[in-house]
Amino acid sequence: KLISATKIRALFTMATEEGAGNVKRQLAKVFEKSIGETVPSEVGVQPLIAASPPNFGDYQCNNAMAIFSKIKGKNSEFRNPRSLGEAIMKNLPQSDMIESCSVAGPGFVNIVLSKTWLAKSVQKMLLEGIHTWAPKLPVKRAVVDFSSPNIAKEMHVGHLRSTIIGDTLARMLEFSGVDVLRRNHVGDWGTQFGMLIEFLFAQFPQWEDDSEIPIQDLEVYAVRYLVCGDLNSEPQTSLPLCFSMGFYKQSKKRFDDDPDFKERAQKAVGGEPKYRKAWAKICEISHYHLVSRISPSLSPPFFLRGVILSVYQGESFYNPYIPRVLEELGSKGLIEESEGARVIKIEGKDIPLIVVKRDGGYNYASTDLAALWYRLNEEKAEWIIYVTDVGQREHFEMFFHAAKLAGWLPGDDIQYPRTSHVGFGLVLGEDGKRFRTRSSEVVRLVDLLDEAKNRSWQALIERGKDKEWTEEELLQTAEAVGYGAVKYADLKNNRLTNYTFNFDQMLSDKVPFVFLFVSLSFLFMVLWEASALQLLGNTAVYLLYAHARICSIIRKSGKSIDELKKGGEIVLAHPDERALGLHLLQFSEIVEEACNNLLPNVLCEYLYNLSEYFTKFYSNCQVVGSPEETSRLLLCEATAVVMRKCFHLLGITPVYKI
Ligand code: ARG
Repeated sequence: KLISATKIRALFTMATEEGAGNVKRQLAKVFEKSIGETVPSEVGVQPLIAASPPNFGDYQCNNAMAIFSKIKGKNSEFRNPRSLGEAIMKNLPQSDMIESCSVAGPGFVNIVLSKTWLAKSVQKMLLEGIHTWAPKLPVKRAVVDFSSPNIAKEMHVGHLRSTIIGDTLARMLEFSGVDVLRRNHVGDWGTQFGMLIEFLFAQFPQWEDDSEIPIQDLEVYAVRYLVCGDLNSEPQTSLPLCFSMGFYKQSKKRFDDDPDFKERAQKAVGGEPKYRKAWAKICEISHYHLVSRISPSLSPPFFLRGVILSVYQGESFYNPYIPRVLEELGSKGLIEESEGARVIKIEGKDIPLIVVKRDGGYNYASTDLAALWYRLNEEKAEWIIYVTDVGQREHFEMFFHAAKLAGWLPGDDIQYPRTSHVGFGLVLGEDGKRFRTRSSEVVRLVDLLDEAKNRSWQALIERGKDKEWTEEELLQTAEAVGYGAVKYADLKNNRLTNYTFNFDQMLSDKVPFVFLFVSLSFLFMVLWEASALQLLGNTAVYLLYAHARICSIIRKSGKSIDELKKGGEIVLAHPDERALGLHLLQFSEIVEEACNNLLPNVLCEYLYNLSEYFTKFYSNCQVVGSPEETSRLLLCEATAVVMRKCFHLLGITPVYKI
């Protein structure tokens, strides 16, 4: 089942052939030949190609030093790494990619790419589509376990981060040819559910009757997005409801005050048919409420419209698999008795991983082991990615380790099948503490997203867009900008750092709030000017405006891009045109890097830089009415295409006018 290193290399080589948009890979192919010829005794040397430091060309081949230290003494032909670098350069086969090379320091071969080749590559993408720049990863299928709130507890901004980051990772992997299974590991099982089941029995002894149970105070806000991320599509599965704090609190009080009730509740999670039936009933009611309460005409504040749904396959789903899985682990001698509980000892950890509690019940870890078994064996996933806050790192490290002991996963983290914990930092309020409302409650997702949308809606009204646009256009743009702002503010940070939630900042970075929202009409008038646009800083608002502006340049030219594509040719004569073209071409390797390291911020940074390169090009190169108009319009279009793909991967809806 394990994929060997050779196989991985073979897959990567295959990817080399396919990953046509990947400059590094293509250069690697050229250098592989040259290195082979320069030092034939060294077989299978992988060319090390990296982006160059500023003013040293575009890329660099860094193999000389490492090869020299290996062949030193054996081969008298090379006196030092530099002479080896010079030989590698001299032996390069003819390639239309490369304009010139030079050797620097201890044998670094600096490469300047050919302008013609750059231009042709961008043009080819325009004609054949951005999918030709998709990286190819050596994984067929992956599970992304994300979002995952807990029923009966409020959903908070931490779950928002998991949803946003998880969705983006899934999109990037899908774009890279991976079959992604999105899994919403909802906390829907455990003692608190026994508590809810017993409370249902106590409050509604007739619960098995088909007549509707009058649980009036059901609150569904927290889960409805899970089902109706896209309001126009049918919910895929029934979902348990999120009980209002009322129902939850009452049952919790009973649980704490009444020992008999407590005991019954603990028994109720044992998985006996009667209890499972009650749980199914609760799910059914919740589904009913969910569907009947949410009507598309209400147009509720779903920022997650656009988040592609993860299938609800919560903790309770894996419950039936736990005994089998524990039996397997037990037969491998991994499980032992400790203070009445059953545990797996993990080397280097003070506390063992508890898999059966003292009261005989299963827990978070036993569920996760069963889920991992299921994902590897039934779902045939090769890469399983979990998106939660960093606070859970220990839990993941421990059960990943247990899976290695059981031989389910290879010992290292390079081979597949592989598991990764994508941890993220806390969301902080401006006081530097956990993000809460003024009355110090957990911030409700919907409120937060509503606010973002309302603010951007307000901004559009102030610019008089309500007189120009239809109600629908207004709403769509407000949503795109508002939700985009929330998502981007999250994704642009390295996910491991805590970040401070600040509306004013995410809707405009450098422009003070008052300025942005009070003197909006003025601001938006000057915004169209590149320099004013930059005032917005690295925000979704800035990027969306930058994209809309490119679209407007093309519209105003009065030319048809399809026509231009047929006969026109891209020429990258001006240094700012060349810089933009090169950056466009780096899209593929950036997406690949973001996938391999599971870091969406890498893509955000790329997108921001793309806007900056475009702005520079646009300020220094006249587009409409210039002799180079056709080429430059095509370059504008290529930029817009790549920007839109970035937005798509980040789960942000682009706007075309603003
Ligand atoms: N429900 C958990 C929480 O809210 C997250 C579940 C993450 N996934 C997993 N397989 N453990 O913290």
